[in-house]
Amino acid sequence: MLNNMAVIGAGIMGRSIALVYAMNDCSVRLYDTDIATLERAKDLIRADLDLLVQEGLCPASRSQKILKNIFVTENLKEAVGSAELITEAVPEQLELKWQVLSRIEALSSRSAIVASNTSTLPLSDLARHLTRPERMVITHFFNPAHLVPLVEVIKTETTPDEVLSDVLVFLRRIGKVPVVLKKEVPGFIANRLQAAVMREALHLIHIGVADMHDVDTAMTCGPGFRWSIIGPLETADFGGLDTWQSVMGNLAPELDNARKAPEVIKEMNRKGHLGVKTGQGFYTYPTGEVVAEKIRSRDLAFIRLLKLRCRE
Ligand SMILES: NC(=O)c1ccc[n+]([C@@H]2O[C@H](COP(=O)([O-])OP(=O)(O)OC[C@H]3O[C@@H](n4cnc5c(N)ncnc54)[C@H](O)[C@@H]3O)[C@@H](O)[C@H]2O)c1
Repeated sequence: MLNNMAVIGAGIMGRSIALVYAMNDCSVRLYDTDIATLERAKDLIRADLDLLVQEGLCPASRSQKILKNIFVTENLKEAVGSAELITEAVPEQLELKWQVLSRIEALSSRSAIVASNTSTLPLSDLARHLTRPERMVITHFFNPAHLVPLVEVIKTETTPDEVLSDVLVFLRRIGKVPVVLKKEVPGFIANRLQAAVMREALHLIHIGVADMHDVDTAMTCGPGFRWSIIGPLETADFGGLDTWQSVMGNLAPELDNARKAPEVIKEMNRKGHLGVKTGQGFYTYPTGEVVAEKIRSRDLAFIRLLKLRCRE
C-alpha cells in the first residue's frame, strides 16, 4: 500500500494534489525550488482545507493532523529519498521535466513510482532519459485537484501490471476516479474534448453569433449541466441516434476545423492577458480579493456538486 508521497512543484496543481494525499492519511513531502511558493502553498492548502471543513467534507478534528501530514522542503533528496509515489507537477516544459525527472530518479528508491501530472506531453517522451522508464506513469489530475474526481492514467506497453495496479488502487483509495488510456495520444481524453469545445466557442464569437457571456451560458446551462451527470455518448442515446445522425451530418461541415491555436488566444498572450493570474482574461478580475472570492465561490459550487455525486 502506497503511503509515503513526494510532490514536486507546489504550484496550482502540486499543492492541491498534496492536500488530497494528506487527507487520505499519507505522509507528503512537498518540494519546490521557490521558498516563497512553498510558504504560499501552506496558506492556500490551509484555506482549501478550511472550506472542506466548513462544508462538512472533512471533520474539524482531523484538520491539524492533515496539515501535519504535509512537510514542505527545498531539499529534493529529503523530498523523494523515502517516497513510494512521487508526483511531478513542475511547469509544462519538456526540457525542464527531463531535468527534474532525472534528478528524482537519481535520488529516489529503485522501487518508487514516478507519476507526472503533465497535461499534454507523451509518457514515452517524458521517460526517454530515465534508466527505469518502466517505473513511470502519468496521473493527470484536474484543477482543483482536491475536488475534481477524474484522474487520467497513461502507461506504456512496458509498464508492469503491478505498477499500474498499485497506482489504480491508490487513486481509488483517495476517492479519485481513474480512467486508463488504451494508448498514448496528445492531450489524453479530457483535454481533447475541452479543446474541441474551446475551438468552436471561440469560432462562434469570431463569426459574430454570440458574445462570450452567452457562449459560457449556453454551455453551463445546457450541455455542461447534463455532462456532469451523463457523458456525451449517453446523452446521444437519450436523444436518439437517428437524431444524432442528422445532427452530426448537418453540422460536421459547419464546424471550425482550424489546425492551429486560435488567433484571439495568441493575441491575449501577447498582451499579457492570462486570466485570473494577471487580472485580465476573457473577463476582468480587478483585484486579488475579487480573484480569491471567484475561486472560493467556484470551489463551493464544486463541493456541492461533489456531495450530490457522492449521494448517487
Ligand atoms: N493548472 C492546471 O489547470 C493544470 C491542470 C492539469 C495539469 N496541469 C499540469 O500540471 C503541471 C504543473 O502545472 P501548475 O498549473 O501547477 O503550474 P504552476 O506554475 O502553478 O506550478 C509549478 C511549480 O513548479 C515549481 N518549479 C519550477 N521549476 C521547478 C523545479 N525545477 N523543481 C521543483 N519545482 C519547480 C514552480 O516554482 C511552481 O511553484 C504542468 O505539467 C501542467 O501542465 C496543470
